[in-house]
Amino acid sequence: MNIITCVAPVNIAVIKYWGKRDEKLLLPLNDSISATLSVQQMHAKTTVMASPGFKEDKLWLNGKEETVHNQRLQNCLQEIRRRAKQNEDDKVNGVSNWYAHICSENNFPTAAGLASSAAGYACLVYALAQLYNVTGDISGIARQGSGSACRSLYGGFVRWHQGSACDGSDSIATQLAPHSHWPEMRILVLVVSDKRKKVSSSSGMQNSVKTSELLKYRVSHCVPKRTEAIIKAIISKDFDTFADITMKDSNQFHAVCLDTFPPNVYMNDTSHAIVNLIHAYNSASGKTKVAYTFDAGPNACLYLLEHEVPKLVSVICQIFPPENEGVQYLQGIPVEKQAVS
Ligand code: PMV
Repeated sequence: MNIITCVAPVNIAVIKYWGKRDEKLLLPLNDSISATLSVQQMHAKTTVMASPGFKEDKLWLNGKEETVHNQRLQNCLQEIRRRAKQNEDDKVNGVSNWYAHICSENNFPTAAGLASSAAGYACLVYALAQLYNVTGDISGIARQGSGSACRSLYGGFVRWHQGSACDGSDSIATQLAPHSHWPEMRILVLVVSDKRKKVSSSSGMQNSVKTSELLKYRVSHCVPKRTEAIIKAIISKDFDTFADITMKDSNQFHAVCLDTFPPNVYMNDTSHAIVNLIHAYNSASGKTKVAYTFDAGPNACLYLLEHEVPKLVSVICQIFPPENEGVQYLQGIPVEKQAVS
């Protein structure tokens, strides 16, 4: 029997992925960029076992058995086994023929718009690759589990290239800069609600692709320029520009969600109060000190530099005391050195 346990962190996009051009291969309509959080904080932990004695694949998520007959999971398993077979010189009983038992858990709320599926699939695919001796780029496999998972395989700042090949071979993630490039960067996660989101990202984005005119404009006119500009800002450590683009991209992504018919409303009143607070904080500072970004949920992720964390946390604690408003926060999480281990 082979057995392996891995942990993988979440990543938070500053240029959002929203909309697929291929539903089966999970090929996106645009490039996206994120930073990967420290694995010490929010992570998925996955143990996979493979044995010639197992009669079928099995899956447990957060302690509960779930079906393995889910297309995305099957895509990952099939692709890992296909690649494993290539390394096996036609052994009849090679590991690529063994079934796997998979146990995965998150140490933070699942499906609450906190990138749980990104950490989960990155972890699963990395663990399976170790178990089945698959080498080379595996981000294209993680992408087939959950698009944004491909970015959690790398630490630091990461770009997921939309690619142009029909088979998805060039829709992979690459590291833009390691964590050591900008070690002062911190991410503060404000948990406004840990409830499951009502509309999953997959069905939300399908509806946006079908109905939102704004999404077309975003993909063709805004994201390419923003992507180039934010890469320059990351490379030159220009926080002002980085923060401006991050906030504008988050706002536009949520505008697309509202332009979707019927609309997807992911942010709530507390999320909007956080946006107002950050703008007020920045204007009182005379400089952009903090950027907000929201995924498909009401929870805020704030990007800021390390020296700003104590001051911002004390302001947040005054305005949203955890016991009153339900805003819990995780202290300034550094960007991660190495992603999965
Ligand atoms: O990878 P998915 O299907 O969970 O979609 C992620 C979508 C966003 O989190 C909203 C944006 C992103 O790029 O992470």
